[in-house]
Amino acid sequence: MCGIVGYIGTQAATEILLSGLEKLEYRGYDSAGIATIWEGEVNCVRAKGKLHNLRSKLEAVEAPAQIGIGHTRWATHGKPEEYNAHPHMDTAMRVAVVQNGIIENYRELRQDLKQKGYVFRSETDTEVIPHLIAEFLKNPPSSQLAQCSSPFFEAVRQAVNKLKGAFAIACVCADFPDELIAIRQQAPLVIGFGQGEFFCASDTPAIVSHTRAVLTLENGEMARLTPLGVEIYNFAGDRLKKQPRLLNLSPMMVEKQGFKHFMLKEIYEQPGVVRACLEAYFTNDINAPINLSLPAEFYDDLEQIQILACGTSWHAALIGKYLIEQLAGIPTQVQYASEFRYAPSPLTANTLTIGVTQSGETADTLAALAMEKERRSALELKYQPRLLGITNRPESTLGEMVSQIINIHGGLEIGVAATKTFIAQLMAFYALALDLAYRRQTISPDKLEDIINSLRQIPKEIEATLERQENLIEQLAHDFAETTDFIFVGRGINFPIALEGALKLKEVSYIHAEGYPAGEMKHGPIALLDAKVPVVAIAMPGNVYEKVLSNAQEAKARDSRLIGVTPVNDGEAAEIFNDLLPVSNVDELLSPILTVIPLQLLAYHIAARRGLDVDQPRNLAKSVTVE
Ligand code: G6P
Repeated sequence: MCGIVGYIGTQAATEILLSGLEKLEYRGYDSAGIATIWEGEVNCVRAKGKLHNLRSKLEAVEAPAQIGIGHTRWATHGKPEEYNAHPHMDTAMRVAVVQNGIIENYRELRQDLKQKGYVFRSETDTEVIPHLIAEFLKNPPSSQLAQCSSPFFEAVRQAVNKLKGAFAIACVCADFPDELIAIRQQAPLVIGFGQGEFFCASDTPAIVSHTRAVLTLENGEMARLTPLGVEIYNFAGDRLKKQPRLLNLSPMMVEKQGFKHFMLKEIYEQPGVVRACLEAYFTNDINAPINLSLPAEFYDDLEQIQILACGTSWHAALIGKYLIEQLAGIPTQVQYASEFRYAPSPLTANTLTIGVTQSGETADTLAALAMEKERRSALELKYQPRLLGITNRPESTLGEMVSQIINIHGGLEIGVAATKTFIAQLMAFYALALDLAYRRQTISPDKLEDIINSLRQIPKEIEATLERQENLIEQLAHDFAETTDFIFVGRGINFPIALEGALKLKEVSYIHAEGYPAGEMKHGPIALLDAKVPVVAIAMPGNVYEKVLSNAQEAKARDSRLIGVTPVNDGEAAEIFNDLLPVSNVDELLSPILTVIPLQLLAYHIAARRGLDVDQPRNLAKSVTVE
């Protein structure tokens, strides 16, 4: 997490940095700061809290500088206080640095630098970097190894070679006012190319309103930005030849377009996302109905699938497991990446490992996959690279790590709580499970055709479901604005939706919520129920419909207010539930794509009614790039 941005060019840097940081606030918002260089001095301004605090502080400051760096922080090392906010500077206040990631060996470096007389002013791991750069500027190594004659670049390069960990860094120095150095090692960083102006940022939305020509730095690369252009080097100092590419992202996509919050806009974008997935994954060719472009080896002799993920992606993976097991008959395990790293299941031959991560940058998921890659190389596997990523960002670190990717086509998601990318992940799992089933002939051609046809109807059913909910949910949100506990229950393929409904509510409204398999309620959680604890039950016709209805009755008997996510015009449900959130009546197998929608809206409207910052809930960040 944390977002970094840098600018060098002919315009006033401060506003460009601030507006870039606004687009990166989804990465963290505990504090923010910028450093610019003007008349031989570094001007560093930082503020605790969200970006608007920094903006107000900067209003009083004259801002003609044309070079600078900025940062928005999600605290890891050190409290979210102004003294820990980035940029950090060396003792002489000549070098300023922003960082996203973790410097693992900062304790040793800090000790060593303190002994040399450097004065530390924060508790962060980042602060060692400006001091190290200052040290190498003061005492340059005797032989210049880099193919770059800039002493600042060389000092930064020497410093970076001392760092261990995962990081993206941008730095400037008052003594070199025409240079900005950006570095990438396991944390994202893009370089933007404008007309006589250049940018760096943790993510493309920060620069898309200035340029669409970008270059994604790879691990172990550094960029030297000057008013004349951009030079790319590796950490050994060799110059590399690289070309920018054109971004498929317009400035409009990073605006709210009339919606009060990004989360609401993104919920309403879901029909379009499903259409994009249908277009990408399914064909009209009866001999090749599914198009995931996976190599045939992915399907050969497959005995087991393991899926690694965190958060909402983990919930999507649980639905993936249901689909793969029920449609293709392949035993599938779903693991929290953070748990799996330290207690991996034994790896058997012919296992397909899937990493699911919207951002493609979640540290735990990447580390678990890296471990799997390593374990595989130690085994004599028939087909080594059986690692598949399911992501919204194919250009992410995940993309470099795995042999194949399924792009979920969710489009840019800015709200911290995942909504449309969850639905897009589900679509990827429908396509994958059906593809596996088709190739392994565990599904008849007629049934396959049936499911694909029903999937094609889903976008308009989402539209109808959204329309039905509007007033209903706003009214419920009013009733529940002061509620302190919620229970969500579901069974079978809708159990993960109960988990996701509870997670959405916790994330954005700060209400305690639990998701439970409806049949397990009586083994403990039922003790929580009384008139103050509403129960939301997902009851869609199919395998477990009657069972969920009986579980719901058990809750009603304990005075809970019962809210049912049920099919429209369902008389039986109308008699049982106090409130109904009706969705279109579709096959149970496809129902999660619809049942999650009222739950997303419920979380959104309760949080909005409570006056909370829906898009940037406290303590969260959209992509968690630390362990
Ligand atoms: C963070 C976000 C969650 C997200 C999780 C996994 O915790 O706040 O919304 O589900 O990371 O993110 P990923 O990018 O790996 O899907």
